[in-house]
Amino acid sequence: MPYGDPVELQRRFAQKLMDDFSERDPEAARLLNEVSTPTLVMSKKILKERYAEVRRAFEGFNVYYAVKANDDEGVVETFASEGSGFEVASSSELEKVLRAGAGPERIISSNPVKPPEFVERCLEAGVDRFAVDSFAEVDKIARFRRRARVYVRLAVPNVGSDWPLSRKFGVGVDEAVEVLDYANRRGLVPYGITFHVGSQCNNLQNWFVAVKRAKEVWERAYRRGIKLQMLNAGGGIPARYTRESLSPTEIAAYLRGLLNKYFGIKTLELQIEPGRGLVAEAGVMVLSVIGRAERFGEKWIYVDAGVFHGLAEALGGIRYSFYSPKGHSSEYELFTIGGISCDSMDVVAEKVALPKDLEVGDRIFVLTAGAYTTVYASRFNGFEPPRVLLV
Ligand SMILES: Cc1ncc(COP(=O)(O)O)c(C=O)c1O
Repeated sequence: MPYGDPVELQRRFAQKLMDDFSERDPEAARLLNEVSTPTLVMSKKILKERYAEVRRAFEGFNVYYAVKANDDEGVVETFASEGSGFEVASSSELEKVLRAGAGPERIISSNPVKPPEFVERCLEAGVDRFAVDSFAEVDKIARFRRRARVYVRLAVPNVGSDWPLSRKFGVGVDEAVEVLDYANRRGLVPYGITFHVGSQCNNLQNWFVAVKRAKEVWERAYRRGIKLQMLNAGGGIPARYTRESLSPTEIAAYLRGLLNKYFGIKTLELQIEPGRGLVAEAGVMVLSVIGRAERFGEKWIYVDAGVFHGLAEALGGIRYSFYSPKGHSSEYELFTIGGISCDSMDVVAEKVALPKDLEVGDRIFVLTAGAYTTVYASRFNGFEPPRVLLV
């Protein structure tokens, strides 16, 4: 095959991801050929290794796992027993984290717009750190008359991030200062600043602009007599899907350089709240082929999950690698992969290199599937979401 051939490139990268997974957790890899489908197999060993890697890279930062990425109880318990903190956005996520044994001092909530009942439940449980990015949110929290700590969500560029998060949340520098000032006047504690460079971020420049903007807010707040304590650098740590990605070590080294330049980091409380970067590569979703067809010259296979059943990110910016355990000796060609539902939007991927001789009943592994998959799954068309098996 000539170098650069799309079939060969895909096949090689999928093989590499599969080999890595099998080497790191042979027992989890063995199960991929045995479990019923659809199942998301999560490796506890890889979760722990990845947590340790992120911890080491981000030494000096408190790590809060963003539970939304994968809220499986076993996953939450695994991180709790490793000593992680947690970022939660709903009462259900909060209860899971509390049940896993993490106390309120290890929990923050960074969704800038929260249901009032959730804020109340957090305060009752002793969780008192909340992101805000509007005056209305400050009012919502202030109503409870506790000295809750609030940190403002700053809008920052999400350029090149495969899953941008910049449209719905965040304020500019001027408004960020006003929101913090207002929180102070409403009896809350202006605690710090947060931003999110976009999920699956491979562009270091986003962190650069974010830290510079944060510094500006920090100084302008200081001039108004507001002494902030904390900087939260959000999520964004990428995983390997169809190509190599920035490692936690590379991001942390770059970020540390910025913080040294723009902030005196010794006096600063630093936080990160990674989701995808902690769980994505620890999961493989095992599917079965349920159909095959050729339409207008395009070869299709159909699988027993889909964009409504765990692979929603395929509708946006995420492209998965697919691996066929029967593939070693087969010739490959390009397929479109359709999901299980009747909806014609339910197309998981196009131009995917898979063995020519795939048949109904064969297995397909979706690699790097531990983040934002089962948490998004619905019961559309009466099909159950993939189950999660943590081993
Ligand atoms: C507030 C907040 N924090 C953290 C995360 C986790 O981001 P990532 O999965 O990119 O690490 C998200 C993702 O949506 C988020 O909205």
